[in-house]
Amino acid sequence: MSKQGTEQNVVQIFDTTLRDGEQSPGASMTVEQKVVIARQLEKLGVDVIEAGFAASSDGDFESVRRVCQEVSRPRVVSLARAQEGDIDRALKAVEHAKSPGIHTFIATSDIHLKHKLRMTREQVLEAAVKAVSYAKKFTDYIEFSAEDASRSDPEFLIQVFREVIRAGAKTINVPDTTGYAIPSEFGALMANLIERTAGGERVIWSAHCHNDLGLAVANSLAAVHNGARQIECTINGIGERAGNTSLEEVVMALRTRKNYLDLDTNITSEQLYPTSRLVSQVTGIPIPINKPVVGDNAFAHEAGIHQDGVLKYKQTYEIMTPESIGIPGNRLVMGKHSGRHAFDERLKYLGFHLSKEDMNRAFLRFKELADKKKNVYDEDIEAIVGEEILRMPGQPDRFELLYLNVNSSSDGVPSATVKLRVGGSEKTEHESGDGAVDACFKVITKITGSHSQLVRYTVNAITGGTDAQGEVSCIIEDDGFRVSGQGAHTDIIMASALAYINALNKLEGRKHYRPVVEKEGP
Ligand code: KIV
Ligand code: ZN
Repeated sequence: MSKQGTEQNVVQIFDTTLRDGEQSPGASMTVEQKVVIARQLEKLGVDVIEAGFAASSDGDFESVRRVCQEVSRPRVVSLARAQEGDIDRALKAVEHAKSPGIHTFIATSDIHLKHKLRMTREQVLEAAVKAVSYAKKFTDYIEFSAEDASRSDPEFLIQVFREVIRAGAKTINVPDTTGYAIPSEFGALMANLIERTAGGERVIWSAHCHNDLGLAVANSLAAVHNGARQIECTINGIGERAGNTSLEEVVMALRTRKNYLDLDTNITSEQLYPTSRLVSQVTGIPIPINKPVVGDNAFAHEAGIHQDGVLKYKQTYEIMTPESIGIPGNRLVMGKHSGRHAFDERLKYLGFHLSKEDMNRAFLRFKELADKKKNVYDEDIEAIVGEEILRMPGQPDRFELLYLNVNSSSDGVPSATVKLRVGGSEKTEHESGDGAVDACFKVITKITGSHSQLVRYTVNAITGGTDAQGEVSCIIEDDGFRVSGQGAHTDIIMASALAYINALNKLEGRKHYRPVVEKEGP
């Protein structure tokens, strides 16, 4: 165990859902959506929020700025490459935060130096020190990351870290950028760096792991077991490629195995489940049913022997309780006789605190649904809030579905007629297709003139029963940029049309926030 590790047993949680998490294909979020998530992250008790990469686009800059205004307890940082321009932009974006900071990075592995940066080790060292020294003139809190640290020469890492600590870095982050490390190896690397870096006892050591081999949580635990005191992670483990360390998993591992690791976090674990659902609703990235901690099956016991054991004594097969992560114990069913007050109370219980105007919109949708469907479950309410409020692209929608009619039979050619509002006018078209969904998408494509490609299309029943709402997710790609769209409706063709239109509106929204630099590599 390191010098530092023996002194403290609280691990800081650095949440990067809004930055690395947003790098999940299709997960781009609007400024408003990021603000909603940031508020919930504060409630959850994270120590640091990485709100974006300010220099990458006007949208990211604006998100970081807004998050700084909305939260007061967590530190808010912006990512910045080790360049003055990026650092200036990051500093400007966090200037109104109560506890501001910047997170600057440069790659240190030979593979990145040679093929990506085309820089020598000396040049990288100089750029890193220059960036930290420059930032130090304006802010006290600087985190430095050596991108691709796990594939870098440890001797070079020690040299770079020593110099950036001397220049004023407060947190040293060791990323396993490509998800390549093995837990014992990553733990040993962390111990070696902490032990041998001059000044290492003055900083917080941090782990940032990707999940390409499914080892991100294990590697993060190995890091803290070997002296790191910060874990960088995302809600539901979303992020670049296979994602990042999952916040809920790593937090519950620390809490459940406190007897072994003697470490804990400042997280209010009862907020884990609502936060996980919220992020899934906003991004449209579903939570796998077998996902540890927050998946639908995480506390479901199927085998007879298991059920018998749990009924006799819960701990026979349960190492943590559903209540401890905030799974609602009472699953109230609502229906068409439920009033506004009951609906409002249920929203609050599910973690949604809506403005009066949003609440009115959600209530109208609830009433429409309750007319079609006898029982309205929590999942239905989440879908309504997701669709009506959370997934709005941040400015008025350009496209709105006004009318849809589909004809489909066992021997005819399926066809669809769709009327859309496009900006200020209304347009109607008719098309046939291979199936009802195909016909419907063809008409929408014709009306909107979109050149996007459909990359993925999935349908899920939100609850059981043939009257269940179908939830459709789709990902479309245009000019190399992917967005996801979601739609929920008791009719799955309607849900499909809504999902496609939602994605098209998001693509339109992107035109308002064009990237200033292309997001690169982290
Ligand atoms: O994966 C990575 O290396 C990163 C850094 C910017 C920390 O995201
Ligand atoms: Zn990363």
